[in-house]
Amino acid sequence: MKITFFSTKPYDRESFEKHNQTHQISFYEVALNEQSVRLAEGAEVVCVFVNDNLNTQVIGSLQKSGVQLIALRCAGFNNVDLIAARNANIKIVRVPAYSPYAVAEHALALIMTLNRKTHKAYNRVREGNFSLEKLTGFDLYHKTVGVVGTGKIGGVFANIMMGLGCKVLAYDVYPDEHLTTNGVNYMSFEELLVQSDILSLHCPLTENTRHLINAEALAKVKKGVMLINTSRGALIDTQAVIEALKNKTLGYLGIDVYEQEENIFFNDLSEQILQDDTLARLMTFPNVLITSHQGFLTEEALTQIAITTLKNISDFADKIMLINEVK
Ligand code: NAI
Repeated sequence: MKITFFSTKPYDRESFEKHNQTHQISFYEVALNEQSVRLAEGAEVVCVFVNDNLNTQVIGSLQKSGVQLIALRCAGFNNVDLIAARNANIKIVRVPAYSPYAVAEHALALIMTLNRKTHKAYNRVREGNFSLEKLTGFDLYHKTVGVVGTGKIGGVFANIMMGLGCKVLAYDVYPDEHLTTNGVNYMSFEELLVQSDILSLHCPLTENTRHLINAEALAKVKKGVMLINTSRGALIDTQAVIEALKNKTLGYLGIDVYEQEENIFFNDLSEQILQDDTLARLMTFPNVLITSHQGFLTEEALTQIAITTLKNISDFADKIMLINEVK
């Protein structure tokens, strides 16, 4: 099939070229939006990532161009107007699981870095500063970790934290029996907020979870709690979180995702003036660690993303049932 790729990075191109034998792919670096959608003219499939914007207007233009399939090379699909796609008779496929370990381990990396301040120690030592002032962390052992959403990633994360000797609490609309057997204690969201020393978000972004962490939730947490978000930026009300950092309710914030990341993350903006004042404010806190949506970025995950996406597209071409269809 003829596929137009949006938001292509060199690592995407490398893994897809390695695994593609069948399809004709045009790679574009630009993100999909109202302006760039014309690049899809003549394509049967568009292949997109987390910050491509598939709103009603874009989907209308894709339909006019003859696009029949949207192949998401990611798990989340909150950036696609599903109703518009259905009305346009465009099917959607995704990669529901590639490596839950990649994201869960990145959440751990954020926790370890924030706690033991290895990013600061690295810079200090390189500058000949061997002082330990202000580098004090805490033992993770026996701390209480609250996991919101115990699906594939949250489940792996819960097991990792239990391996470190933490007490793991969880909140999910569908609790997982295996995790309960392994020692995870399910409870209400409110109770989880009250008891946790570390809170980690692993639920999808939906209308129910948008701004799950808002001023009301932050009023219930333990003072000095560490908040980790590797899921989707809008799970957090960023302004409320900034207030909580200022009044020290939040002791640490580690985020791999940001509400307004769309035109910022994945791009080298080092020579430009950052226009997002909220992100700029977040970057001023010494106890905030931001990575630009790299949770998925492991060799294993990239390989699985390419294999599953290409199989999804081949199944569509062969009119086989689409096991990874988003409806
Ligand atoms: P999953 O679908 O396996 O698990 C999600 C869990 O959240 C399910 O157990 C579900 O019951 C639960 N859930 C749904 N609504 C909830 C609510 N209102 N409250 C509490 N729990 C709720 O998804 P998976 O693979 O574990 O991914 C989780 C999220 O991680 C994705 O939605 C995506 O946004 C994010 N993600 C981030 C990546 C990154 O690079 N940072 C990469 C891949 C995924």
